[in-house]
Amino acid sequence: HRFQVEKDRKYIVDTLLTGLSRLEYRVRAFRHRCAARIALDGDQEGQVLIYKQVGKVAALRKRIDEDKNLDMTKTFVSHTSMAHTRWATHGQPSERNSHPHRSDPKNEFLVVHNGIITNYKELRTVLEKKGYVFESETDTECIAKLAKYLYDSQKGAKLSMTSLIKAVAKELEGAFALIIKSTHFPHEIIATRRGSPLLIGVKTAKKLKVDFVDVEFGGGEGAEKLAEEEGNLLTPADPQHPKIRRTHSRAFLSEDGMPQPIEYFMASDPSAIVEHTKRVLYLEDDDIAHINEGELHIHRLRREDGMSSIRSIQTLEMEIAEIMKGSFDHFMQKEIYEQPESVVNTMRGRINFEDGTVNLGGLKSYLSTIRRCRRIVFVACGTSYHSCVASRATFEELTEIPVSVELASDFLDRRTPIFRDDVCIFVSQSGETADTILALRYCLERGALCVGVTNTVGSSISRETHCGVHINAGPEIGVASTKAYTSQYIALIMMALQLSADRISMAQRRKQIIDDLHELPKYIKETLALDGDLRTLAKETLLKEKSLLIMGRGYQNATCLEGALKIKEVSYMHSEGILAGELKHGPLALIDENMPVILIMTKDSLYPKVQSALQQVTARKGQPIIICNKDDAGISEKFRTIRVPQIVDCLQGIINIIPLQLLSYHLAVMNGVDVDFPRNLAKSVTVE
Ligand code: G6P
Repeated sequence: HRFQVEKDRKYIVDTLLTGLSRLEYRVRAFRHRCAARIALDGDQEGQVLIYKQVGKVAALRKRIDEDKNLDMTKTFVSHTSMAHTRWATHGQPSERNSHPHRSDPKNEFLVVHNGIITNYKELRTVLEKKGYVFESETDTECIAKLAKYLYDSQKGAKLSMTSLIKAVAKELEGAFALIIKSTHFPHEIIATRRGSPLLIGVKTAKKLKVDFVDVEFGGGEGAEKLAEEEGNLLTPADPQHPKIRRTHSRAFLSEDGMPQPIEYFMASDPSAIVEHTKRVLYLEDDDIAHINEGELHIHRLRREDGMSSIRSIQTLEMEIAEIMKGSFDHFMQKEIYEQPESVVNTMRGRINFEDGTVNLGGLKSYLSTIRRCRRIVFVACGTSYHSCVASRATFEELTEIPVSVELASDFLDRRTPIFRDDVCIFVSQSGETADTILALRYCLERGALCVGVTNTVGSSISRETHCGVHINAGPEIGVASTKAYTSQYIALIMMALQLSADRISMAQRRKQIIDDLHELPKYIKETLALDGDLRTLAKETLLKEKSLLIMGRGYQNATCLEGALKIKEVSYMHSEGILAGELKHGPLALIDENMPVILIMTKDSLYPKVQSALQQVTARKGQPIIICNKDDAGISEKFRTIRVPQIVDCLQGIINIIPLQLLSYHLAVMNGVDVDFPRNLAKSVTVE
């Protein structure tokens, strides 16, 4: 308000809508199944305008553009607004069910929400008894109505917005990231979270002379100077740097002593805001972040929990170009093609190929604990789970520690026994998968050492684990995980290599693996060159089929499972990964001359056993397509082959998955699937 710097409505609308379109990758099912809404300040003080539209963000933009009464040139010195895209958890995707949800027709309280409120039925019943009429089927609407109910019933007490929202948050159970706006508190907005990700980006004008009013410093000498040099109070997440408890806009003064404008961006994912600012703070569970006329205050829901409200500012390393498609048709295609570089990024600075050492900085102080543990338990979902299956044998071989691999949901369903001397490794591309986070918390409670392997710095899993490894694959946007899989695979192999560094008996084996990791990018490139053949294979042989079986064993079991998942996810064709060792125990009944089969038959110690699987299939008139090594002369001419370069057995899965990724991609395109947004799926499943 005080700053007298104006932004027009067009700027505000553009910022919100571009942010939403960046989030489309999280909201998988956009085309017909989703809806977006936006809430803006109106022309009069305390007035709020809402626009809603089913479909992609572009449709919402059109709707706004068509409103001739909306003056896009109107300027504001202080403005709060919010927008949301929805992936249905409660209620059908429709305009009616899209956020923001409101307390009443006058829009007194507006809420956007990511997550699930588990006690919403109880809350709804109570509120309905009090006369509230619900407009939607969502769990979110009860939050807006609850806020109004508490506000109305405490009116005499003149509650602040913070106290009010604290009272609301105390009633909520489940997972949420919330942003709340109210006509009773114009120029204010609140963000709070429990279990769902939420971050705040901060943007200030440059060239500041800094005044430190109301800012608490934790840093050593020189901290002030550093902040000043940076032209900004907001500093990196280094404990030596000043940290911020309260960031007052008054603290941002220009050289002539005038306050500088600040824009705050609250979002569930950094990609929504990275083009505006790279300086972000991640909220913790039960933080109540209150922005009032440009000032940000962070409060705790309950003072008694003893947790500090200091949140340090981190600098995002993501470039907007990285999250754009570039010259590719789809993100999935781009990400498949990025693998020669992304695998290098995973290894960069961590493997010394000269002396054969592996050093994952994040694990350093925990290595001896891990080496002494009684067992290692991998926990993950989806593709991340397959990366655990893929590296398990190498882990067991190199470390001689028993390893089990768990799907997070089943792990929790079974209430699996976990002990203090267990090491639990949580693998998650996003670091935000609800099932994996819940499994992590379960293991933390039982005193196990918890290690995170994620692709997202600052994600819940990377923050809540004791230590971990970032896979550094760069942002992955396509729903079907591709480059994250190969990078997770490598990160886990590197972990096993580091843990076994002292084992003399493994020296030879370790050297062989490290040497081949060095060659990996070259082999991946060579495999990507098969793209044209795979396209032809998709078109001529597989496109019309209803089902596809992918078989293999040993290291390739994971490749079969992951390949089949890719096919299902993006081409909607039924596909199953089958462990060739189990063929006789059931799947063989499916085999005849019509059943499409891909058999993975690259060279390793199990090759003879896979040959016998091939015989079993051909004896039933099956005509498998064979993925084999390029110089394998032992495979009869009569089979269609996909020939890939040979690499050490435990890394061969990284090469072998690539033709299956490409195949699924082409099938998806040929089937007319919106490849990056397949129906019913979400990139990041932040609900249980
Ligand atoms: C969703 C995605 C998958 C992903 C899985 C686990 O189902 O569609 O691609 O493998 O979640 O996600 P995470 O982020 O934990 O690796």
